[in-house]
Amino acid sequence: MKLHAIEHPAAKHHTRRKTPKIAPIIALAALLLTIIPAYYPLLKKYDPKNLSSESSPSYLIIQNPIRQTPPHSIDHHLPRENGLPVPADVERVLPRARSRNVGRKRRSRRRKDVKIRPPPPPPPSHRHRDFMMVPKMSNECDIFSGEWVPNPEAPYYTNLSCWAIQEHQNCMKFGRPDKEFLKWRWKPNGCELPLFDPLQFLELMRGKSIAFVGDSVARNHMQSLICLLSRVEDPIDVSSVPDQQFKRYEYRNYNFTIAIFWSPYLVRTTKTDPDDTTQTRPFNLFLDEFDENWTTQIEDFDYVIISAGHWFFRPTMFYVDRHLVGCQYCPQSNVTHLPMYFSYRRAFRTAFRAINSLKNYKGMTFLRTFAPSHFEGGVWNKGGDCVRTRPFMSNESSLDGYNLELYIIQMKELRIAERVGRKRGLKFRLLDVTQAMLLRPDGHPSTYGHWPQAKVSLYKDCVHWCLPGPIDTWNDFLLQMLKKQASL
Ligand SMILES: *[C@@H]1O[C@H](CO)[C@@H](O)[C@H](O)[C@H]1NC(C)=O
Ligand SMILES: *[C@@H]1O[C@H](CO)[C@@H](O)[C@H](O)[C@H]1NC(C)=O
Ligand SMILES: *[C@@H]1O[C@H](CO)[C@@H](O)[C@H](O)[C@H]1NC(C)=O
Ligand SMILES: *[C@@H]1O[C@H](CO)[C@@H](O)[C@H](O)[C@H]1NC(C)=O
Ligand SMILES: *[C@@H]1O[C@H](CO)[C@@H](O)[C@H](O)[C@H]1NC(C)=O
Ligand SMILES: *[C@@H]1O[C@H](CO)[C@@H](O)[C@H](O)[C@H]1NC(C)=O
Repeated sequence: MKLHAIEHPAAKHHTRRKTPKIAPIIALAALLLTIIPAYYPLLKKYDPKNLSSESSPSYLIIQNPIRQTPPHSIDHHLPRENGLPVPADVERVLPRARSRNVGRKRRSRRRKDVKIRPPPPPPPSHRHRDFMMVPKMSNECDIFSGEWVPNPEAPYYTNLSCWAIQEHQNCMKFGRPDKEFLKWRWKPNGCELPLFDPLQFLELMRGKSIAFVGDSVARNHMQSLICLLSRVEDPIDVSSVPDQQFKRYEYRNYNFTIAIFWSPYLVRTTKTDPDDTTQTRPFNLFLDEFDENWTTQIEDFDYVIISAGHWFFRPTMFYVDRHLVGCQYCPQSNVTHLPMYFSYRRAFRTAFRAINSLKNYKGMTFLRTFAPSHFEGGVWNKGGDCVRTRPFMSNESSLDGYNLELYIIQMKELRIAERVGRKRGLKFRLLDVTQAMLLRPDGHPSTYGHWPQAKVSLYKDCVHWCLPGPIDTWNDFLLQMLKKQASL
């Protein structure tokens, strides 16, 4: 939520004072809905060099077994689950001049000590979409601007009909009581977005291949696609390694392949502490070096879907040209402290440079834009939760704070990549899920990614998306774009 936006890097940093714990009891969830809006803690100076546990971002590890084997798998290895990152949304106050929240609830929660009135809210258009890079013909509908409208028919699969739902996103299994969040579809302003047609998708993808590159949200997206296709066919697991992070599936009847490559930072990454199994110690990011785990593997793919986001909130050391140039949330006082925007921009630039430098790659590259998280009432490890049960309307929320910054960085880097790629005939496309997902605070697992009594964690997941759920719309977008491409 906008409540936790990161300030502009140039602005002063603040964080909230320690917030009271919200008991992680399911029965309280409904109650929280009414408590949270009234709750607004005091503020404290944020010192990036003082990493007390309160200000130090960390992330959530959930070690649950997952049911991740297709019915006819030829891979008999037990899947190994990796950590589930949650952004260390170090809570910051919105820079006053940039506050553009317009929701009624949010207005009532605005800090009492704000003396400068924020500027009037923007018109109910989507300002961030001014950065839309792909020049459009005036008669062309922007499928990424719109509203969620009721769809009583949804969902189109369940946790029984689809094997690919990872435990953490199997919200119905873990007792999520409300079902209304399933019953929406995305309605672009000025046109219709057809619902996903699995037969049409598979016909279009006959003899083709799609690679997902990114983190666990990319996997969430891929699993949504597998579930949507499961009405027609289940794929065979043809992964060459047992590693859960590098999966390859084949749809035999269509000679269609999908694969996922784990690369949460998109660039070469090492651990500062090789023995750190919790993945809570800082990572070294080599911001100008390719992550060969995916860059050496994608040349034969027809489509590559690149995404990254939530891991960049974590403690990281920044290397350029093999030299340490800065860090985020690192304990060293003799290293320049830089914002995540520094690493985010360079990571995308390097990832796109890798794609543009692949001699045999002839595919189309999609940038799947940042999908905002929705912690309210605190940060992820301080009682923050996402308990809403309905989408926002577009006039109730607007992109701002760090969500906007990350989005703009993605737009700019894609524009650069597109210019370079054009010279050698490589195509880049914008798969812009940001606005649609900004409006879905109700789509996250919250506590329903595991049994309430499970001792795995008391944290709420407001980063990933329930399956079925609003993330299924990403494949509506994808199919629409593939269809358009095929008709050109
Ligand atoms: C760091 O923060 C903690 C808690 O906010 C405070 O008690 C401590 O004095 C701070 N240390 C420094 C070196 O500023
Ligand atoms: C599927 O969800 C239902 C609730 O809708 C739950 O009772 C059941 O255990 C779940 N099954 C699986 C296999 O996840
Ligand atoms: C499957 O598709 C690939 C291209 O992705 C092609 O090279 C291969 O010949 C196809 N196989 C069959 C059996 O059609
Ligand atoms: C590549 O994948 C392996 C196996 O998961 C991992 O150990 C390694 O850190 C990855 N490399 C990079 C650059 O992330
Ligand atoms: C920072 O200081 C430590 C020792 O205090 C030293 O080992 C390290 O090289 C220094 N780093 C930089 C970037 O100057
Ligand atoms: C948003 O628009 C709807 C109608 O389109 C209206 O009913 C509602 O009051 C508006 N909400 C806000 C916060 O402006």
